[in-house]
Amino acid sequence: LNSNHRARAAAGASSDRQVSGGGGSISESRIADNLRRLEVITATPGDGITRLAFSDADATARALVVKWMRDAELEVRVDAAGNIIGRRNGSASDPAVLTGSHLDSVPNGGNYDGVVGVIAAIECARVLAERRAQTRRPIEFVCFASEEAPRFAQSSNRFGSRAMAGLIDPELPQRLHDSDGTSLAEAMRRVGLDPSQLASAKRDPSELFAIVELHIEQGTLLAEAKTPVGIVTRITGTTRFKVDVIGASDHSGGTPMTRRRDALAGAAEMILAIEAAARDLGGDLVATVGVIEVRPGAISVVPGLVTFGVDVRDVLEAPRRGAVRQIMEAIETIASRRALGTSVSLIRDDDPVVLSASIQDVAKSVAARLRIPSMSIPSHTGHDAASLSAITEAAMLMVRNRSGKSHAPDEHVDVEDIVAGTRVLCGVVEYLAGA
Ligand code: CO
Repeated sequence: LNSNHRARAAAGASSDRQVSGGGGSISESRIADNLRRLEVITATPGDGITRLAFSDADATARALVVKWMRDAELEVRVDAAGNIIGRRNGSASDPAVLTGSHLDSVPNGGNYDGVVGVIAAIECARVLAERRAQTRRPIEFVCFASEEAPRFAQSSNRFGSRAMAGLIDPELPQRLHDSDGTSLAEAMRRVGLDPSQLASAKRDPSELFAIVELHIEQGTLLAEAKTPVGIVTRITGTTRFKVDVIGASDHSGGTPMTRRRDALAGAAEMILAIEAAARDLGGDLVATVGVIEVRPGAISVVPGLVTFGVDVRDVLEAPRRGAVRQIMEAIETIASRRALGTSVSLIRDDDPVVLSASIQDVAKSVAARLRIPSMSIPSHTGHDAASLSAITEAAMLMVRNRSGKSHAPDEHVDVEDIVAGTRVLCGVVEYLAGA
């Protein structure tokens, strides 16, 4: 399938020399205005963007996007996963080119993560409508549902795009609950979705030609290189697992140091070993312990059970696999020296995604033609395009993030850089859709 797509993209590349997309009528003031209009839609005014998936704030933002899509003369539908799809027909019923991103946020996040890709996509649709452009393939402008996963379990992240790729178990919405006990299925019903129809959101690979997602960089490679636009080569692979360290809880006064099986002291040593392993391996590899639970959790009791979560990422597969192996060995060595038990359970194990080489080439030439500086970069964060890569050719563009922050209220991206990214995006999308 992939080589087939590549061949088709390459064929498009050679037969269509005049690419006019990305040109004059992209409006900086309209992009800035749309950013401002979404910025006020938050459950935490004055303290960042809190627009959790399927919440009231999310619904308000989504309604605005539906209106913008209709203004851009798109045919709008919402699939069973909650993805908003605005379609512009082509002259043929060829497979569609997709572009878009997400609007939902983490608690107290920023106004650019996801949002920039949605606004850029809609700006492309508006420019095409204003120009009365006719493409051969249809173009679908998508706002993916629930990319972030803070409300329900981590296994709900990239919910909309994974449903579109057929990668979500249809029973998942019944199984997941938020901290108030509301199931994902109930949350979906509350915003008018029917979770029992979830499987219908799946797209057949024959319906799709490619996806190109624009996103802000959640790092500083572009800012350091003073380059506004990144063309993404790979999306990081991620392994996450949970470790239970089993000791023996006992009285903190009555248990001499020589007779303890302290699960927390053991876990502490393991966490430092994980950090050391990642540092020693170097390169792009990162390993993080971001969550820990101690039981029974009393100041006068030797901890008997500790559970912590490990997140290991690298854009290359071999270093990630090597790091996971090394971490497992360190955990076992420390546990046996301290007479502790361990139990490890895998949460997820996603291989890196290699993005379309032919679309990267198209993006490079579009950027060069528009005289917009660009460079190839890896993505250390997961995105909706990674889900779709399971069923179609996938590509990503990134926009410089001068603040170096993301998932934080002070996340900031200059509107000039968003305009530069939008111009490249529109050029690529129009090129792939074919004149
Ligand atoms: Co995002």
